[in-house]
Amino acid sequence: MSAIVSLRGVSKLFPVQGSAQRTKPVRAVDDVTLDIEEGTVVGIVGYSGAGKSTLVRLLNGLERPSEGQVIVKGQDISTLPEGQLRKVRSGIGMIFQQFNLLKSRTVFGNVAYPLRVAGWPKDKIKPRVDELLEFVGIADKAGSYPRRLSGGQQQRVGIARALANAPDILLADEATSALDPETTRDVLRLLRRINKELGTTVVVITHEMHVVREICDTVVMMESGSVVEAGPTYSVFANPRSDSTQRFVATAVHGTPEPDTVARLSAAHPGQLVSIGISEAAPTPLVAATFERHGVGSSVVYGGVTEIQNKILGTLTYELTGSDAAIDAALADLGDVTAVERQTAAAEQRSAPADSAVPHLPVPANAGEQP
Ligand SMILES: Nc1ncnc2c1ncn2[C@@H]1O[C@H](COP(=O)(O)OP(=O)(O)OP(=O)(O)O)[C@@H](O)[C@H]1O
Ligand SMILES: [Mg+2]
Repeated sequence: MSAIVSLRGVSKLFPVQGSAQRTKPVRAVDDVTLDIEEGTVVGIVGYSGAGKSTLVRLLNGLERPSEGQVIVKGQDISTLPEGQLRKVRSGIGMIFQQFNLLKSRTVFGNVAYPLRVAGWPKDKIKPRVDELLEFVGIADKAGSYPRRLSGGQQQRVGIARALANAPDILLADEATSALDPETTRDVLRLLRRINKELGTTVVVITHEMHVVREICDTVVMMESGSVVEAGPTYSVFANPRSDSTQRFVATAVHGTPEPDTVARLSAAHPGQLVSIGISEAAPTPLVAATFERHGVGSSVVYGGVTEIQNKILGTLTYELTGSDAAIDAALADLGDVTAVERQTAAAEQRSAPADSAVPHLPVPANAGEQP
């Protein structure tokens, strides 16, 4: 694979409006070095103000970098004159959260617009627009005006328009943020199809990790203008390093019980409760086999797993029964390959009945307490 876009030490500074001249400018993008591989779907994630939109505007030359180089298909566009920049831009499609359609034109007119601007001959425009509307599944709306369309339909028009000049790169800035979950799913499927069938490199800006989980091959985490983490989607989800990445990942990978859930589980289950990270390195059969090898009884009482890039990821909480020594040995084995957390309810929340209700289980008095 080769990089279709490379950023080398790119920064973008904006002056702070209305402030004294001595005030330091805002570093919307701060020393970013990044390669976007051709033919992939890349997610750029971060909180509001992290610099995501500024970064994509640098990719298509809508902003010029204050420092560093932006290399698109081997060409440094940071210093290109405006005329040549326009040519580069025609190879990059863009879609937006608010669709940005021309209200006074029909669906057909909106999609035909970039072709007219690019100087396509009239007789070639109609078949191209028809083909594009067919591809995005909205051929029956060719004569409608945008205001008569649902959000999902409007975004399909936006996508058809962005694809008109057969770009190699499609930039989507919060393209699904204004859509309901089901429509979001449809639009994400369409973006995936564009990537697979047309080979288009897709850059998705989002603050929604489920969007990343569903379509991105790689993910780039931004914070205060900088890239804090980047890598294959599964690795970033399985091993989030920065605090903010961990918080983002937690919104899309569930299964870790909150303290009040632990309290309820402890009351209901007298055995030792342990949360185990389930991943490619520690799939459920391996966890089950480890318990069995040590003669530990196990049953799942809480949790959730999901699938990212065809690999499993999540957390399951097991109730374990058996001798202390056997449980310790099993957890030590598992601790070598995955995250293992003994769950204990806070003292005041642990209710007496849990211990007394099932007295026959071999649970020692100090069960569930961290050494
Ligand atoms: N044209 C501009 N002039 C001055 N400051 C700007 C300009 N554009 C962006 N900024 C500032 O740069 C920072 C990054 O903004 P940007 O829009 O790139 O963030 P974002 O990650 O896209 O946020 P959001 O998720 O809210 O869209 C912010 O502090 C913003 O106020
Ligand atoms: Mg933005």
